[in-house]
Amino acid sequence: MSRFIRASKFRHVYGSSAKRDDCYDNLRISTSAWDTNIVKVNPRFLSVNWNAGGGGAFAIIPLESIGKMSSNPFLYCGHAGPVLDTDFSNFNDYVIASAGEDCKVMIWNIAEEPLEDNVTVPALTLNGHGRKVGQVLFHPTADNVLASSSADLTIRLWDIEKGIEKQQLTGHMEAIQSMDWNWNGNLLVTSCKDKKIRVFDVRANQIVQEGNGHQGIKGSRVVWLGDEDRIATTGFSRTSDRQIFIWDSNNLNAPLNQESIDFSSGVLMPYYDADTHMLYLAGKGDGNIRYYEFANDSLKYLAEFKSTDPQRGIAYMPKRALNVSDCEVARAYKVCRDSIEPVSFVVPRKAEGFQEDVFPPTRSDEPALTADEFFEGKSASPKLVSLETGFVAKSKKAFVSSAPQQAPEEVIHPTNEKEYQDAYHKLRQENENFKNQIAQKDIKIRQLETQLAQYTSQNNSAPTSGASTPLEVEMNGN
Ligand SMILES: *[C@@H]1O[C@H](CO)[C@@H](O)[C@H](O)[C@H]1NC(C)=O
Ligand SMILES: *[C@@H]1O[C@H](CO)[C@@H](O)[C@H](O)[C@H]1NC(C)=O
Ligand SMILES: *[C@@H]1O[C@H](CO)[C@@H](O)[C@H](O)[C@H]1NC(C)=O
Repeated sequence: MSRFIRASKFRHVYGSSAKRDDCYDNLRISTSAWDTNIVKVNPRFLSVNWNAGGGGAFAIIPLESIGKMSSNPFLYCGHAGPVLDTDFSNFNDYVIASAGEDCKVMIWNIAEEPLEDNVTVPALTLNGHGRKVGQVLFHPTADNVLASSSADLTIRLWDIEKGIEKQQLTGHMEAIQSMDWNWNGNLLVTSCKDKKIRVFDVRANQIVQEGNGHQGIKGSRVVWLGDEDRIATTGFSRTSDRQIFIWDSNNLNAPLNQESIDFSSGVLMPYYDADTHMLYLAGKGDGNIRYYEFANDSLKYLAEFKSTDPQRGIAYMPKRALNVSDCEVARAYKVCRDSIEPVSFVVPRKAEGFQEDVFPPTRSDEPALTADEFFEGKSASPKLVSLETGFVAKSKKAFVSSAPQQAPEEVIHPTNEKEYQDAYHKLRQENENFKNQIAQKDIKIRQLETQLAQYTSQNNSAPTSGASTPLEVEMNGN
C-alpha cells in the first residue's frame, strides 16, 4: 500500500446484530408520527415510547430482560397525551426525563426492582411549555440541567433539582426539528422547519450563528462533532436527495463540505462517537447503518451494516459501557416493528489486551459542574475516564427535587347543581383570563409589526427603543 494512503484503524469495523434470543420482543412501540428516535439506552436500561391508548406512557426495560416482554407490562404513565421523547440523566442511571403532547416535561426515578404496578406520579413535573414538547436532552457536563424543545417554538432550560425554569431560547420561526449540545454545553445547535441552522449561547439566549440548512421539506437533524467546533447536519435537498453537511460552528454562512447520500425518503438519524471520530447514519425505514470517519473537515465512507429489517428509531450505548475486551466501539439499539435489536460494531484485532489507541479516555458518569455553577456562568469540559480497568455502573441514588411537592391535578366531575355552578364560574374566569392574554399578545404583535416596519424602512438603522414607541403608549393607555 502506498504510504500516501492513510490506513484507517476503523476501515474494517463491522456491525453484527444480536441473535434473535438476545433481542427485546413483543413490544407495543409508539406509532406516533412525531420525528423522534423512540428509544434511549444507558448502561442499565432501555426506554421506549409506548403505544398506550388514552394517556401517554413509556416503558423501562432492564438490559438483561431480553426475550419476549409480557403483553401487559407495567409502565411509567403520568402524561395525559402520548410521550414523544425521553432522555436518561448522564450522571444517574436511575433518572429519566420524559416529554409529552400534554405540554409537560416529567422527571422520574427508575425503580430498582421490577415494577408491581404502573408508576403514575413522577418525581417532578415541569410546567411552562404552551404546546407539545418534542425533545428532551440532558446537559453533557452540568448535573440536573435539562433542555426541552416544544412546538411553542421555545427551548427551555430547567434546573431539575430546584424544579425551576432557568432560561428560554427564542428565535425559531417554525417547528424545532432537533437539537444538540456542544462538548462543554455552553452552546446548543438546532435544526428547524424554517430550514435554518442556529447556534445559541444558551445562558444569554443569543443566536451566535445562523445559516441556511437543507432546503428540502422533510426532517433535518443536527449533531455536534465532539470537542471540535464542527457540526454535522442531515436533511434533504429541494430535489429530495438525502444529504449530509459539515459546518464550522463559528461560521454558518455555508457548509464546509456537503455530500449527497441517495434518494431514499427516511430521515437520517446521526450519531457521532467523539473517541473514534466515527459518524453513524441510520435512515428511518432503511435496514442499513452507514458509517464514516470524520477527519480534516470531511467524511470518509468506511462501510455499512446491512440488514433487511427496517429501523423506526435508534439509540447508542454510552461508550463507557461497551465491551472493550471485544473491541466493541459502538452498540446500537435499533427499533423494528415490535422489537429492539442490539447491533454491535467491532474493530477486528488479533492482539490481546486493552487497545488503548481504539479506546481513549471517554466521558464518565461524573458531572463536572453543578446546575448553580453552570447558570452562574462557569464552563467545564466533560470528565473523562479510562476504560482500561473496566467500567462499573454506580448503584442507585434516588433523585430528590427540592421543588415544593405539587399536588396532583385534581379533575373534578361535578355531581350536583352547586358543583356545576362552581365549575361554570371557574371556566368563565379561565375564559376571561385567556381573552386578556390574547389581547395582550395582539398588542405585542402590533408592537413588533411596527418595529419591523420601522426597521425595514430605515434600512440599516436599529429599531427605536425606549418608552416612546407608539405601541407602548397604546399599551399604557389600554
Ligand atoms: C398501566 O397503564 C397502561 C397504559 O395506560 C394500561 O393499559 C394498563 O391497564 C395499566 N395497568 C394497570 C395495572 O393499571
Ligand atoms: C489531514 O490532513 C493532514 C495534513 O494535511 C494529513 O497529514 C492527514 O493525514 C489528514 N488526515 C486524513 C484522515 O486524511
Ligand atoms: C465481552 O466480550 C467477550 C468476548 O466476546 C465475552 O467473553 C464477554 O462475556 C463480554 N463481556 C460482556 C460484559 O458482555
